[in-house]
Amino acid sequence: MARAGKAPRSTTVEPPSPAGIGAGEHPAHERFGNPEHLEEYLRKLDDPARTAWQKPDEVLRALETRPEAVIGEVGAGTGYFTLRLARMATHVFASDADPRLLEVLRERIAAAGVRNVTPVLGLADDPFLPSARCDLILSVNAYHHFPEAPSYLRRVRRALRPGGRIAVVDFHEKLERARLLRDTEAAGLCVAAEHGFLPQQHFVIFH
Ligand SMILES: C[S@@+](CC[C@H](N)C(=O)[O-])C[C@H]1O[C@@H](n2cnc3c(N)ncnc32)[C@H](O)[C@@H]1O
Repeated sequence: MARAGKAPRSTTVEPPSPAGIGAGEHPAHERFGNPEHLEEYLRKLDDPARTAWQKPDEVLRALETRPEAVIGEVGAGTGYFTLRLARMATHVFASDADPRLLEVLRERIAAAGVRNVTPVLGLADDPFLPSARCDLILSVNAYHHFPEAPSYLRRVRRALRPGGRIAVVDFHEKLERARLLRDTEAAGLCVAAEHGFLPQQHFVIFH
């Protein structure tokens, strides 16, 4: 029975997946581009072979942050970058829209004994980062999922302190560079730096 004041959830939002919609399955629009079954996906995100092409240490160096920086992350997932960012910043606000991934991130924060990361459950169109707090906001492999990117980026931008920057890393094959530049310009951002050392991804920093 639907709860008072809430419309019953439609069961015809998308056709059944090949395996059929089972009990507890999230419709695709509630999964933010993530697969229904997470185990294999988590292995992929954590794959040690990812280091060779993701080059996390080089990415972090290229961000040129100071130890006193407050960093936001959008589409943080299970924390591949979050836990690394935590070692080089005063505080990290790690936002993701999928509660399942955020739960994994919470477990990892606890297991690592990290005290300077705040996980934030965002909405699809608002990361809910605190206003005017971040010196830098990083998004890795998530931009292509963001709906209506210019208005989304304006919300992300509100979380920046004066002089703050937004760094976007995303796959060539999923995000056209021209679209990224168009969206960011429409959101009032300018390119501050661009790095070409990632073989599969754009890496652009905006201010
Ligand atoms: C490919 S994963 C990347 C995760 C992490 N950044 C990494 O590099 O391992 C993309 C992430 O973006 C998140 N995401 C997708 N759409 C989003 C949205 N509208 N707002 C916030 N996060 C979103 C997904 O839940 C997922 O965690």
